[in-house]
Amino acid sequence: MQEITKITPTAFEIMDEIKTRWSPRVFDDVPLSISEVKQLLEAGRWASSSYNQQPWRIIYGIKGDKVYDQILDCLIPFNQDWAKNAQALLVTAYKKTNFDGDPYFHAPHDLGLFMGNLVIQANHNGIAAHHMGGIDQEKAHKTFEFTDDFEVATAVALGHYGGNPDRLPEELQEQEVDPKRERMAINEFAFNGNFKSK
Ligand SMILES: Cc1cc2nc3c(=O)[nH]c(=O)nc-3n(C[C@H](O)[C@H](O)[C@H](O)COP(=O)(O)O)c2cc1C
Repeated sequence: MQEITKITPTAFEIMDEIKTRWSPRVFDDVPLSISEVKQLLEAGRWASSSYNQQPWRIIYGIKGDKVYDQILDCLIPFNQDWAKNAQALLVTAYKKTNFDGDPYFHAPHDLGLFMGNLVIQANHNGIAAHHMGGIDQEKAHKTFEFTDDFEVATAVALGHYGGNPDRLPEELQEQEVDPKRERMAINEFAFNGNFKSK
């Protein structure tokens, strides 16, 4: 099996949990237990949120259970093709209104903080997470009986790093094993002064 190594060219030294994280489309066959998934949710649980409103809601399925199959069924076909390799799947959602009934503008931000915690804890545990915007939000909303004040945001595939890239559709194999990772330079998105548009 081909060992996959990614190169992360950082301008400053950063924590290994951040540096070694990447989003695979194949995962090890080692199953994830409910308690391993709950430990990741625990990390998310301690994220900060606006007025501590904790707008995040998560549906989780473990490979072999009904919820896993239901989540897989909500993904767009492109994601279904590889996410079936995951050992657990999540649907993430957030509350659209805040404590006084007004729009909760920061809810997607707060869900992002939750997921940031979850992903870094996962990486610490050797577990990879691959986020997916490619989910039929309406279908997931209906399938999991979310109420109208919640918006489905993403799905997430989880599993230990590893797994054979041969399992992927051919067109995805090259990207999976490509060591190169790229990001904007810090001075392209952070300004010690006014915003600069390119
Ligand atoms: C909100 C969000 C939605 C994404 N949607 C998809 C998706 O539907 N399918 C997919 O294969 N990857 C998806 N990705 C993964 C990104 O393409 C990936 O994170 C990005 O290319 C950076 O790669 P890295 O995570 O390996 O550093 C998504 C990532 C995020 C954060």
